[in-house]
Amino acid sequence: MLKHKLIHGDCLQRLRALGDSTCIFADPPDNIALDYNEFDDRRASDEYVAWLDDCLRLFIQKAGIVWVSYNAKWSFAMGMLVWRLLQEYDWLEAKANVQVYTFGQHNKHDLGNNHRPLLRLKRKDAPLYPDQIRVPSWRQLHGDKRADPRGRVPGDVMDMQYPGLGDVLDFPRVTGNSRQRCNWHPTQLHEDLVERCIKLSTLEGERVTDPFGGTGTTLRVCDRISRRCTLVEYDRTYCDKIAEENGLKRISESTPAMWGK
Ligand SMILES: C[S@@+](CC[C@H](N)C(=O)[O-])C[C@H]1O[C@@H](n2cnc3c(N)ncnc32)[C@H](O)[C@@H]1O
Repeated sequence: MLKHKLIHGDCLQRLRALGDSTCIFADPPDNIALDYNEFDDRRASDEYVAWLDDCLRLFIQKAGIVWVSYNAKWSFAMGMLVWRLLQEYDWLEAKANVQVYTFGQHNKHDLGNNHRPLLRLKRKDAPLYPDQIRVPSWRQLHGDKRADPRGRVPGDVMDMQYPGLGDVLDFPRVTGNSRQRCNWHPTQLHEDLVERCIKLSTLEGERVTDPFGGTGTTLRVCDRISRRCTLVEYDRTYCDKIAEENGLKRISESTPAMWGK
């Protein structure tokens, strides 16, 4: 069995043909006219929201835990979609989390957008592994003897704590000068954010699927923390770059093109 797979094509079509995973991590296009290579990020709003609904409905059938990072512009629509799902499926639960960025875009006319919602949908019986994501607690960082030596489980505002400095920082946007940045793609999530979600949801050796491969962030994280990964990506050029940068070999040239290792 291949540890990692990358499949070219539309995620709804490809995921229907794939087996289940323990977790799905999804970062769909935001529909804010970003300049992707092939994908057109300018759909009518109602069409986009209906498509998000199709995605959520398929994803919860394909994995016990589904994370969706999305643009705050769609918060109200997303809330409505999730509410309907919760009415329909009594085995489902939802948790609203937030990624914060210190260096959000500046808006001199209004409050700037410094956060990105991070939805988690979960089958009620799917396990979580909070001990895998403990971080240094405030007490530990300040030499308080009452501190739990294991640190603490972080909260639902997804930030990063730097041990030793004691500052609570954030998962920054991966901008042009970031060490992680892949300049051939317009948008990218911070690897540490993806890692926290995956570690909370899976054990080593379990499979994570990312329906929107992008730069391959989820695959890089899975490789580092010993999870199996399946990526789907619509854009053939991005697939080629992910394969090249992560040492994936071509497995199939016919439709769908597929790579793996
Ligand atoms: C927001 S980016 C994902 C970035 C990724 N999380 C990362 O950190 O690199 C969304 C990606 O989804 C791809 N995409 C758009 N529509 C798709 C679809 N229907 N199926 C599969 N991929 C799609 C786009 O080409 C783009 O690369």
